[in-house]
Amino acid sequence: MPSDSTIQVRINELSQLIHQYNYVYYCANTADAGADNFDNETYDSLLNELKTLENKFPELRLEDSPTLKVNAEPNTALPSRKHQLPMLSLGNVYSLDELKSWTAGVQKLLGGQKPEYVCELKIDGVAVSVIYRNGILTAGVTRGDGSEGEEITANIKTINCLPLKIKTGPNLEVRGEVYLPSNNFAALNQQRLKTGEPPFKNPRNAAAGSVRLLDSTETRRRRLAVFVYTIAEGLPHETHAENLEFLRQQEFPVNPETKTVSSIEEVLEYCRYWEEHKEELPYDIDGIVLKVNSLKQQRQLGFTAKSPRWATAFKFTAEQAFSVLREVEIGVGRTGNLTPVALLDPVELNGTIVARATLHNYDQVERFNLHLGDHVTLEKGGEIIPKIVAVDPTLRTPDAQKIEAPLTCPACDTLAFRPQGEVEWRCPNRVCPAQQKEQILHFVSRRAMDIDTIGPALIEQLLSKNFLKNAADLYLLSHEDLSGLERMADKSAANVLSSIEKSKKCELAQFIHALGIANVGEKTAGILAQHFGTLERLMSGTADALEKVEAIGPVIADSIIDFFQDQQQLQLITDFLERGVSPAEVIIQEIIDSPFNGKIIVLTGTLSEPRDVWKKRLVQAGANVTGSVSKKTDFVLAGENAGSKLEKADKFAVKVIDEEMAHALLSQVKSFVTAE
Ligand code: IVH
Repeated sequence: MPSDSTIQVRINELSQLIHQYNYVYYCANTADAGADNFDNETYDSLLNELKTLENKFPELRLEDSPTLKVNAEPNTALPSRKHQLPMLSLGNVYSLDELKSWTAGVQKLLGGQKPEYVCELKIDGVAVSVIYRNGILTAGVTRGDGSEGEEITANIKTINCLPLKIKTGPNLEVRGEVYLPSNNFAALNQQRLKTGEPPFKNPRNAAAGSVRLLDSTETRRRRLAVFVYTIAEGLPHETHAENLEFLRQQEFPVNPETKTVSSIEEVLEYCRYWEEHKEELPYDIDGIVLKVNSLKQQRQLGFTAKSPRWATAFKFTAEQAFSVLREVEIGVGRTGNLTPVALLDPVELNGTIVARATLHNYDQVERFNLHLGDHVTLEKGGEIIPKIVAVDPTLRTPDAQKIEAPLTCPACDTLAFRPQGEVEWRCPNRVCPAQQKEQILHFVSRRAMDIDTIGPALIEQLLSKNFLKNAADLYLLSHEDLSGLERMADKSAANVLSSIEKSKKCELAQFIHALGIANVGEKTAGILAQHFGTLERLMSGTADALEKVEAIGPVIADSIIDFFQDQQQLQLITDFLERGVSPAEVIIQEIIDSPFNGKIIVLTGTLSEPRDVWKKRLVQAGANVTGSVSKKTDFVLAGENAGSKLEKADKFAVKVIDEEMAHALLSQVKSFVTAE
C-alpha cells in the first residue's frame, strides 16, 4: 500500500496535468505542445485516476482540484461559431532528420517532383480566424475544437496591426496566430504583481486568456498582436508565397522572416538559424512551419484526418530533466495491452512536477536495458505525459534488478502473451476486470457516450457486485441496483439512470467512437459516421469501400473489418440496440456538381501518382473507373508513354485529359459525399 505522501504527490501531479489539459483544451485553442496532441483517452484516464484517488482519500483532495470544475471551464458566455473550413493542426517533427524524411515522403507522394517550400516561424500564441465581408472585418473566431470556435470579434478588433477594412473585397477569411509581444508580456505581469493578481506563466497563456476576455477594454490594454499565415476563403493566387504577398499588400501583418526556398538544405539552414537565434525575436516561437508552396501540389498531397500532408511543424528541442527509476507499474488498457509506466523520483520539467513517465511497451524497456534504480533522462516531446529518452548505464549498481515483461496480467493473473509481430504484451482474458473497467470507462467518457454521472469508482462497485459485465449492461441497471450501493442517495441513483437513458439518443459518431474499435478515435469515428450514415451500412462496409473514404487507410480498414467480424462484439452491438440505444442516422446527400459524376474513366500510361490514388480520388468525385476503352468511356486520363488505349480513345472519339486537367476538373467538385 503506498503511503499517504506518495498518494498526495500523485494527486498533485494529476491535478496539475489536468489543469494543464483543461487550459490547453478550453482556453488556449493554440499550438501549445499539448493542443496538437490532445489525446482524449489520456485525458480521460488521468481524470478517472484522480477521481478514484480522491474518492478513496477525500482528505487529500486539493482545494482547486480540477474534478470540482471539469466541464465548467469553457467560457460559455462567448457565442460559438462554426468554421466554414475546419481549422486543422499540423503534424510535428522533433529533429532535422525527421524533417528530412518528411520532405522525402512529400517528394515521393508528388511522384518525384521537388517542391518549393515556404519556411515560416511557428508563433507561440493562439490560432484565430478573421472574417471580412464586403471588405469589413465582421468576425473573429478562436480555433475551438477545429470545426467550431468562439466568437471573439470585439477582442480581435482591439489588435492594432489588423486592418478593420481592406482595399479589395468582397469576401476574405484569413487565419493567423494572436500573440503577446515579449515587452507587453513583461509589462502586463509587472502590473498584475502590483495589483496582487497572479502573473501569467508565459506569453502564450497570457494571449490565450486575453483573447477570450468578456471585457474587450481589458483586452485592448493588453496590446495583443497577430501574424496572419493563411487565407481560408478568397484565395487569389496559386502559390502560398504569392498569397502571403497579397496579404502584405492588403496591409495584413505577415511575418517578415518568412522565406521561400527550393532545396532541403535551405530548409535545414533556416531551422538551424532560428533555433539558435529565437531569443533575439521580440515574441515567442516554438518551432518552424514548413509548407509546400504550390497550391496545386498541396491539393495533390491532400490531408490526413488531422492535418495537411503539405505542411509540418519542426518543434525546437524539448526541455529535459533527470530522475531515478523507482518502480515499474503495469497499466491494463481496454484491449488488454499491458503498458509499463515508470514511477520516478519527482522532478520539475517544463514547469510541472513529474513523477511518472510512459515507457510505451516492453520493446522500449528492452532497448534501454532498463533496471530499477536507473538514472534516466526525461523529455516532454510533443505530449503532456513525459517519456524516458535516455538511460545512463554507468550509474547502475551491479545488483540492480532488470525490468522484465510481466508473466501474468496484474489484474486477473491470466498468462500474458505477445501476439506475433506486435510490440505489446497482452492479457488475453476478455472478461479481465481491468479491461472491462477500461472499456466501460471509455464508453461513458465525455467524447464517447458522455454519461457524466458514471465514474471509475461507480464502475468498480457495479463490476464487483456483478451488476455489470460490459457496457451494454448499463442499459439494464435499475433504481434498486443503484440505490443499494455505497454513497448512492436516491437522487444520485435517479440522476445516473436518467443520464444513461439520455445517452440512448446519441449521435452515430459518438456511438462508433464508444465501441472502442482499435485505431478508430473520435475524428475517424466522425468521418465514418458522415460517410456511411448508419451503423448497418458501416458494419457491412467492405475493406474496399472503407479504403475509399478520405483519410482511411488499410490499417484502419482492417481494424474495422476485424471488429465487426468478432462474434462477441456483434453480440454486444445487438444488446445495445435491443436495450434501446439508437444512434441518429446521418442523412447522406448525393454528390452534387461534379464534372466526373457518373462518368466512365480509363487510366493509362505512367501517372505521377500511383494509380490507386487516382482511382480513389476519381471515384470519390463520382466517377466509374474501368479498365478498357469503349464507346461508353467518357474520359481517358493519360500519363506518359500511353499506348494502345490512346489509339482506342481516338477511334471512339473519347476525350483524353492529362493530370493537370484532371486536377482542374477535380477542383470544380463542389461536394463529395456530404451528410447533414
Ligand atoms: S499553419 C492547416 N503557420 O501552429 C495548418 N500554423 O498545429 C494551419 N501556428 O494551430 C496552420 N505559427 O495555431 C501555421 N506560421 C504558422 C504558424 C502556425 C503558429 C500554429 C497554429 C496551428 C498550430 C499548428
